[in-house]
Amino acid sequence: MTSPARPLIEVRDVQKQFRSRSGASLEALLGTSLNVEANQFICIVGPSGCGKSTLLRMIAGLETASAGAIGIDGAAVKGPRRDIGLVFQSPVMLPWRTILQNIMVPAEVLKLNKKVARARADELLTLVGLDGFGDRYPDELSGGMRQRAAIARALMHDPRILLMDEPFGALDALTREAMNLELLRIWEASRKTVILVTHSIEEALLLSDRVAVFAPRPGFVREMIDVPIARPRSAATRSDPDFVHLAERLRAHFTSVPAH
Ligand SMILES: Nc1ncnc2c1ncn2[C@@H]1O[C@H](COP(=O)(O)OP(=O)(O)OP(=O)(O)O)[C@@H](O)[C@H]1O
Ligand SMILES: [Mg+2]
Repeated sequence: MTSPARPLIEVRDVQKQFRSRSGASLEALLGTSLNVEANQFICIVGPSGCGKSTLLRMIAGLETASAGAIGIDGAAVKGPRRDIGLVFQSPVMLPWRTILQNIMVPAEVLKLNKKVARARADELLTLVGLDGFGDRYPDELSGGMRQRAAIARALMHDPRILLMDEPFGALDALTREAMNLELLRIWEASRKTVILVTHSIEEALLLSDRVAVFAPRPGFVREMIDVPIARPRSAATRSDPDFVHLAERLRAHFTSVPAH
């Protein structure tokens, strides 16, 4: 008998408590469960402070759960892994290195072939629209450009899983829409397994196969919403009647959910 395929990422009943400096305990996540199949694109939406970043950090192995289990490919997550690319909520760049040198960091850490990595870094700079900015320093770029560089860096070692924490939150609306389409294109080509946190309902629907709606803190997945909109998607998808209808449903869901 064949057993059903196991999800690539399994989050089971995960809880997270933080202790503040004053000793008070804060419950960030309460019994969170989430399965992500290989090659799926999942978006997480939810109110500020409901534990979205905390969950991504735990999946990435940068933080440990207080209870519950997180597994990738059937093995418990015990620390940072090389098959994950991470884009943080605020881009972290080494200020003394150029953008190109920053993008090359994962290649150095993982000792990838220098020539191949350099060629890939150039490709990635073009991909995120930073052609010609490789020799600039982070403080010479706008916040949005730094975030795009951070996305290029996360893709450098061609990870199987991409975890993105509000990657476009700091971008202006037009750049954000362009980056959404770029990310769709990258995903169509590479079919990585992606979890992306966003506050934008439209962004979540345009990008994902499923949307995980989080409850306010202490957070948990309140609802999983399927996004059965055909791919490949494009700018025109936003005016597709199914898309508009789903967006209305999701928005109504948010406005009707009382905070607790
Ligand atoms: N290292 C920490 N120490 C103590 N408390 C923390 C720590 N990290 C997060 N928290 C708390 O845990 C809760 C969840 O934080 P988290 O950053 O995961 O929320 P979020 O959903 O990502 O919010 P936002 O949408 O604003 O980014 C918050 O109340 C936050 O104050
Ligand atoms: Mg966050």
